[in-house]
Amino acid sequence: MKHLIDIKDLDVEEIDELIKVAKDIIGNPKKYAHKCEAKILATLFFEPSTRTRLSFESAMLRLGGNVLGFSEASSSSVAKGESVADTIRVVGNYSDIIVMRHPKEGAPLVASEKSDVPIINAGDGGHNHPTQTLTDLLTIKCEKGRLDNLTIGLCGDLKFGRTVHSLITAMSRYKNIKFVLISPPELKLPEYVKKEILEKNKMEYIETDDILEYMDKLDILYMTRVQKERFFNEADYVRLKDYYILNKEKLKVAKKDLCIMHPLPRVNEISADVDQDERACYFKQANYGKYIRMALILKMLEEK
Ligand code: CP
Repeated sequence: MKHLIDIKDLDVEEIDELIKVAKDIIGNPKKYAHKCEAKILATLFFEPSTRTRLSFESAMLRLGGNVLGFSEASSSSVAKGESVADTIRVVGNYSDIIVMRHPKEGAPLVASEKSDVPIINAGDGGHNHPTQTLTDLLTIKCEKGRLDNLTIGLCGDLKFGRTVHSLITAMSRYKNIKFVLISPPELKLPEYVKKEILEKNKMEYIETDDILEYMDKLDILYMTRVQKERFFNEADYVRLKDYYILNKEKLKVAKKDLCIMHPLPRVNEISADVDQDERACYFKQANYGKYIRMALILKMLEEK
């Protein structure tokens, strides 16, 4: 693997190995503190981020490496009209590995075709977010102890939510995974994901717009934010943004060992009263993201 553009760039054995290394880093952080000395990671973020950019930067710093980059296109020469391809060619001279987020689907793939250094897709439009998926897989493995035999509720914006698309793709490779797809009719999972992933892999799934209908069956409830930045019409966003608000009341019927996940940032879709519930895993999930990104940086630099 030279670049990570899509979660499909990693096979199950490679994902298992990344999870194993991430767990070892959690237990033995000092062992890894100098592994990337003299290496530089560049973060090129053409779209806002808190977790992905800062966890990658924290990951590289905790491996003993260095970081550089920009957090908005307006502070780079892209604002003067420079292309992504030229930007990547140049930044490849200044760094050993590049992490890139871009609002256009496919931009990191185009960048990877022009790059001599490994490119990691940190989110491209409504398309993919493979390192969020690695974060989610590590969270599920650590919190549930397995990646198979799970009933997973995906709730919210399943149309534009790139983390959901990548997670479905990843979970399609594990046994006995059932999905409950909970969304308003306007934000249903795109047909191409249903056809190319769920149906092609003969996966069981149910669609509903009622968050309570299958609540008692779920092992994982993965909440998502309605993606304001992908709407063409403000009125549609306002109408749909608070369609689901998970609160203590709704969790009364849920399993005692339910794992509540959210890639974050959240807006209103999980009420603050859920944060104290021991089933709330979303802040732990953000921390797992740092460890799996440490494991990924190590792997990609070793393979380079
Ligand atoms: N989960 C996630 O991608 O968060 P950020 O947008 O803050 O990076």
